[in-house]
Amino acid sequence: MKQFNAYQPLSILAETLQQTHLNTLFASNSQRFADFHVQMPGAMLDFSKQKITQEVLDGLIGMAEEANLADWINRLINGDELNHTEGRKAWHTALRNMSDPIPEVAEAWQKMAYIVDELHQKQMRGYSGKAITDVVNIGVGGSDLGPLMITHALEMQQLPSSPQIHFVSTLDGRQLQSILAKTNPETTLFIVASKSFTTIDTLSLAETAKSWILNSCQNHSEAMRHFIGISTSPEKMGEWGILPQMQLAFWDWVGGRFSMWSTIGLTVAIQLGMDGFKQMLKGAHEVDEHFRKTPFRENIPVLIGLIGIWNTNFLKLAGQAILPYDSRLKHFASYLEQLEMESNGKHTQRNGEFVDYRTCPILWGEVGPNAQHAFYQLLHQGTERVMSDFILFKEGQGSGERAAFHQNLNIANCLAQSRAMMVGQDSDNPHKHYPGDQVSNTLLMTRVDAHHLGMLVAIYEHKVFTQSVIWNINPFDQWGVELGKKLAMGILDSIDRQDASELDQSTQGILQQIWEHKA
Ligand code: F6P
Repeated sequence: MKQFNAYQPLSILAETLQQTHLNTLFASNSQRFADFHVQMPGAMLDFSKQKITQEVLDGLIGMAEEANLADWINRLINGDELNHTEGRKAWHTALRNMSDPIPEVAEAWQKMAYIVDELHQKQMRGYSGKAITDVVNIGVGGSDLGPLMITHALEMQQLPSSPQIHFVSTLDGRQLQSILAKTNPETTLFIVASKSFTTIDTLSLAETAKSWILNSCQNHSEAMRHFIGISTSPEKMGEWGILPQMQLAFWDWVGGRFSMWSTIGLTVAIQLGMDGFKQMLKGAHEVDEHFRKTPFRENIPVLIGLIGIWNTNFLKLAGQAILPYDSRLKHFASYLEQLEMESNGKHTQRNGEFVDYRTCPILWGEVGPNAQHAFYQLLHQGTERVMSDFILFKEGQGSGERAAFHQNLNIANCLAQSRAMMVGQDSDNPHKHYPGDQVSNTLLMTRVDAHHLGMLVAIYEHKVFTQSVIWNINPFDQWGVELGKKLAMGILDSIDRQDASELDQSTQGILQQIWEHKA
């Protein structure tokens, strides 16, 4: 990053600002909120509680300009082959452009709409002729987290005609066992969601589900009416036995963690109907337009990205907490863990050279009111300096006096925590001393619905892209996950042979203990 002209001046500013308390920044500028918040319809970003000054902002924007961020954004949205290590585009933005859809995307929407309609009209039937009542999405990572996060958040908006939706991802089989225990094979439909259709987690669970159906329906082709496949590989879906009419396509130019906008979002479409699914696409598309057309100084994803760079590379903060103040966003932090850390958790630049600067910080999170009673202690009085994103919605859920009370309590707690982190508290009792000075963003959105969730996810996708451009890394591959998968297959083989002699001592020791244990 030292090649940027702005690097040196920003480093000097960082030395001063590290020593300057946020309280001082507020005391010296009565316009601080006015100066450091931006908005677009449906979303407002307050970054006044960051250690940012106009000079810092100028430097960061200068760095984005030097990195040709505007050009990169155009290339992303125009579908250039930005995922160069895999020779692919990363064209998730095309999936939400409904005014000018790509023909194969429009065709996939039609097939999704047909399936959704059949389910809602109770015309999709299992082997015994009974209508489907339960849909189980089997998938992991990008084939799980996005739809899981959205369908959980919008549970209360589920159409009355929708079947019940379940998610299974873990290869230990426990989640699947508990769902199979409460569902009926005659009326359960499985969605086998896997971009590659090679992921052992997903395929092993799908095999277990297949045996479960075959236990009660011996006719193989009737049993296969219980399986929808979603993948970029029709061949592999066909080999596994997915019937042609039950196959939904997507394309290698959609990254796994960017795929909830594709047919991978089928469960969202089932829950909300195609109109609801398209509301989500529309929200995301509005952010795409904002990202492409808005000057950096007012551009929400660009600013969140640049602020993250400032905190990570200049102020040397180590962690990023994600704190949504709405329990409907229970799975949002897990979703972002994949989006951010699988995208930018890398040490290699685009040209193959190793970086000599930090890239993606450790990101974690939890629904804010719960996190207050768990890890906020560290944010208030720990030794780590952490940046936090508070995510708050103007509207709560439900109506009436109690609902209004809970929403006000929720708003008060969100604002109290970001304020406490900023202001701190002096005390003669060292145990009650709070240093404050912990930086945060607050993203204020209108309400939790498909449109705003589409916006929220797209904001973070583009934050990640902005940072990748500055860090000069390819955010669209994930080679780092391969080694563990390869080693797991070798260890599985050792377990099958009950011979760990070729493995390291620690692995041998653990296996030995497992083998010696008499269950
Ligand atoms: O192992 C990581 C990963 O490849 C993710 O990038 C992806 O979202 C997940 O596995 C699932 O992959 P697939 O959809 O191909 O089963």
